[in-house]
Amino acid sequence: MHIDIISVVPDLLVSPFSHSMMKRAKDRGLLNVNVVNMRDFSTQKQKQVDDYQYGGGAGIVMMCEPIANCIEHLKKERTYDDIIYMTPDGERLNQKTMNSLSLKKNLIILCGHYKGIDERIRELYITKEISIGDYVLSGGELAAAVLVDGIGRLLPGVLNDETSALFDSFQDNLLSHPVYTRPEVFMGLKVPDVLLSGHEKNVRDWRHEKAVERTKARRPDLLGEEE
Ligand code: ADE
Repeated sequence: MHIDIISVVPDLLVSPFSHSMMKRAKDRGLLNVNVVNMRDFSTQKQKQVDDYQYGGGAGIVMMCEPIANCIEHLKKERTYDDIIYMTPDGERLNQKTMNSLSLKKNLIILCGHYKGIDERIRELYITKEISIGDYVLSGGELAAAVLVDGIGRLLPGVLNDETSALFDSFQDNLLSHPVYTRPEVFMGLKVPDVLLSGHEKNVRDWRHEKAVERTKARRPDLLGEEE
């Protein structure tokens, strides 16, 4: 999978893809993340990429030209399945969207800043708008990192244990069951006996029961129940 991320602060996107699972995805040739500096596509003096909004009011807007130039440049190289704009106005991100995007081949992710991007870019180029939650960040970069991380770990071959992504919270509208590792007793608290029993079916049933219990207590909305 290939993902181009367009940003005015490309340095923000170095570390999130240089460690752990995202590094493994890259090293195994499964995910190529390319961060593009939007300023390189400005034709203005001092590499300007934003300007005052028509109609007045506080806040500046990201201009059409550098974004369009950048996207057109990228499109010469490959065909994209989606051009995604990270914005608090977008569709709220969930595991279903992560799953469906993980099946794509090439994506562009555009990170907004300031008051956002000129509406005409949304009309002309953007195929999907995504928000990572009902709050406003200073820019789309951290949101893009969240999106790419969530997609990247689903790519076949990235996780060492191929089955474990299937049991993540949200894959079946349930939160995860509690997990334990050594030691068996910590500060007087003991690992539940069933997990030490070696009885696979009992372990499976216990985990399911705990996942349902936890979901009911914390996120009844996932079970179609009132919050
Ligand atoms: N940019 C600023 N806030 C954002 C959010 N909540 N989701 C996606 N992009 C954003």
